[in-house]
Amino acid sequence: MFLVLIPLMSCVLAIQAGSLEEVFRSNQVVPDVIAQAPDQLLKVTYSNGLVAKDGVEFTPTQVKDQPQVEWDAQPGDFYTLIMTDPDAPSRAEPKFREFKHWVLVNIAGNDLTTGDAIAEYIGSGPPQGTGLHRYVFLLYKQPGKLQFDEERVSNKSRKDRPKFSAAKFAEKYKLGNVVAGTFYQAQYDDYVPKLHKQLSEN
Ligand SMILES: *[C@@H]1O[C@H](CO)[C@@H](O)[C@H](O)[C@H]1NC(C)=O
Repeated sequence: MFLVLIPLMSCVLAIQAGSLEEVFRSNQVVPDVIAQAPDQLLKVTYSNGLVAKDGVEFTPTQVKDQPQVEWDAQPGDFYTLIMTDPDAPSRAEPKFREFKHWVLVNIAGNDLTTGDAIAEYIGSGPPQGTGLHRYVFLLYKQPGKLQFDEERVSNKSRKDRPKFSAAKFAEKYKLGNVVAGTFYQAQYDDYVPKLHKQLSEN
């Protein structure tokens, strides 16, 4: 019985890991953002239970508030969570690639409230006529609790948000490979002007 089940189960797991890799590659998140897809799906849930995965399309209105993010944390470990848009101002001409949406560091275990916000969460603000943008979430396991020298950016500011690179940030702090990730896509809706106004407040 077990002799039959175990190979069957590892086969099912392999297919699931393959599909995350497949969806990151077919949407060019690999290589536009990271060189290698993570093994694990990061669970990102917006209000109304909307789960960000497989590049599903949401509206900016649906993602205006910070989502819940869950993963299997090792007790005592610290994590970095990044949300980034490689398609700024558009996927066709990404001259501001990447736009930093959210960076939380020194998260103890999987308790987001313990994280230090280098950049506070802002939702999607794809300019009108720029098509679908990809919004990519990346989770890294830190080698320990770290000192980060970046200036903190509030959710009322676009300072330091354009021309970000998640991969370079991970390299600078030796965060290693992405342990879990996911992404959704969004295009312009009437929440976008409100977000742009919020970001121009200082
Ligand atoms: C901005 O961040 C503050 C916490 O720093 C939060 O209370 C507020 O709701 C956020 N505003 C928006 C529009 O997300």
